[in-house]
Amino acid sequence: MVPKISTLSGYLHEYQKSIANPTGFWENIAESFYWRKKWTDVLQWDFHKAEIKWYLGGKLNITENIFERHLFLRGEQPAIIWEPSNPEEASRTFTYEELFSHVKRFANVLRSHAVKKGDRVAIYLPMIPELTIAMLACARIGAIHSVVFAGFSANALSERINDAGAKILITADEGIRGDKIINLKETADEALESCPTIKSNIIVKRTGSPIDWNNRIDYWYHEEMEKVNDEAIAQEMDSEDPLFILYTSGSTGKPKGVMHTTGGYMVYSAYTFRNVFQYSSGDIFFCAADIGWITGHSYIVYGPLLEGATTVMFEGTPTYPTPSRYWEIIEKHQVNEFYTSPTAIRSLIALGQKWADNFELKSLRVIGSVGEPINEEAWHWYHDHVGKNRCPIVDTWWQTETGGIMISPIAGVIPTKPSFATLPLPGIQPIILNNENEKLCGKSVEGNLCIKFPWPGMARTLWNDHERFIQAYFSQFPGHYYTGDGVRRDEDGYYRILGRMDDVINVAGHRLGTAEIENALNEHPLVSESAVVGYPHKIKGQGIFAFVVCNDLPAKDAGEELKNSLLKGVAKRISPIAKPDVIIFTRSLPRTRSGKIMRRILRKMVEGNTDFGDVSTLTNPDIIQEIQTKVLENLEK
Ligand code: WT7
Repeated sequence: MVPKISTLSGYLHEYQKSIANPTGFWENIAESFYWRKKWTDVLQWDFHKAEIKWYLGGKLNITENIFERHLFLRGEQPAIIWEPSNPEEASRTFTYEELFSHVKRFANVLRSHAVKKGDRVAIYLPMIPELTIAMLACARIGAIHSVVFAGFSANALSERINDAGAKILITADEGIRGDKIINLKETADEALESCPTIKSNIIVKRTGSPIDWNNRIDYWYHEEMEKVNDEAIAQEMDSEDPLFILYTSGSTGKPKGVMHTTGGYMVYSAYTFRNVFQYSSGDIFFCAADIGWITGHSYIVYGPLLEGATTVMFEGTPTYPTPSRYWEIIEKHQVNEFYTSPTAIRSLIALGQKWADNFELKSLRVIGSVGEPINEEAWHWYHDHVGKNRCPIVDTWWQTETGGIMISPIAGVIPTKPSFATLPLPGIQPIILNNENEKLCGKSVEGNLCIKFPWPGMARTLWNDHERFIQAYFSQFPGHYYTGDGVRRDEDGYYRILGRMDDVINVAGHRLGTAEIENALNEHPLVSESAVVGYPHKIKGQGIFAFVVCNDLPAKDAGEELKNSLLKGVAKRISPIAKPDVIIFTRSLPRTRSGKIMRRILRKMVEGNTDFGDVSTLTNPDIIQEIQTKVLENLEK
């Protein structure tokens, strides 16, 4: 097990140590794991070329660190407690021993489909145990998993499959979330029409509803599992061999294939899990995220299982069948640490506090928040009604690219402050830079959040596009990793995340590029151009505001029918989560003489701001008044 900090002075001491001698610090943490061959060098890095390598020459398999390392002590202990969407259905528990057996079987299934080390496997599954099994089976044989969130459309899925060049797809007949059934097989079939690299489609039977069958590539998961045994030797991996790709949104339309490697990600996900949540052996940990996002990868699957924890995996939503669902699960499984998003908290606040107040939640010790800034009101409600004034809140700031939590309280160790992510974890060296690339020192400063030294969990590249990796993270502030977030460091030295500084928006904890939504809108034959910005939304944190200019169509004729068809188009191109909350039609968009859309003005408008700064460089300043009137009408609604 990784070393655990348990006092404030212990944190300060570890932090100092990790800065004074980072390689010594991370070498010590890595000693807790099982390496087939030890590394020869701890770190090589160059932030100008964006080349980062940890534990060079080390050989390992991450699943040996989950299974073989724990079996002797924890073979009989639950590894996963799976809770179905519908509480009437039975939950399922997998001990470490049982999970291991499933993982090895499925590893053999993959091998029987000619999947080899380095091949990519796309996984498009709902929150069912087979999702974790499939990921770990890939890791067992050295295949690179690319999990695609089951809410994505056929277009989005095929785009990700093709970018990764995946050989196999794993999906389900259908998914269940609350009162919704999701036709995964149907969507996957549509995606596969344009995915020439896929050789087999392995389908998990979740609901048993009839599905179309393609004899050439379709296989049932349960039938394939019957054909193999459960002896599967782990593939030896180098520390820097890829473990997974996970697509996320950036400021251009094309999703980024964030790539994580084996050794560093293992060390970092386990270290942050153990420390931030103060996990103790025997505790039950419940992260309510979806495994389709990085939070689920690191804190439902890898972090907890590497530390021999019991992790709860929940298929459903917080409000089905009633807004008590989370609280029922916490009491049913005696959860000790609970981790969710501000959006989930705000949606539960809106439904009334009696739901949480009806439960004592005595087992809870730590509650966490992730994905977006948590406003003070939500923080206090979470603290009082869920944490019952006794559990510390860990407001954890991090990103798909960081692999694990970066700035966060360590539960019960670092004093919290509402809406502050507080202090960097050991080994993390934040730096605040202004737009002129000058370092802002001391306290009470605000600027761009960068990190000046590597950490083991950081992404190593964007799949097939290292140039974009350099451009996106290492070029704005040369020599530093740029997070894309704004931050304030207050008089106590505490960090408060202010939100994205780029064209990325965070809607209900989902990260979306405004450009990808614009591209989807622009595909409509009547649309000539569009601009999308985020605006403050009471529940979702940010909502999506779209300004649309139509061809050959007076703005007054652009009505509900066109709006609906645009919304459908976005859902089809990306996902229903990317549908704009507000669409307004306008004759034109504010433009500079060089032809650029002045998004800054649109952003201010939707925030209800009326001071747009210098507009003298616009070619069409008269449009501002017209757009603003429409914006105000729509914001009032
Ligand atoms: C972006 C990363 C980290 C896993 C889930 C999201 C925002 C994340 C916080 C927080 C304020 C936060 C940032 C970041 N964000 N956590 N505690 N407080 N903002 O991962 O999809 O890669 O998004 O989420 O803006 O850059 P992601």
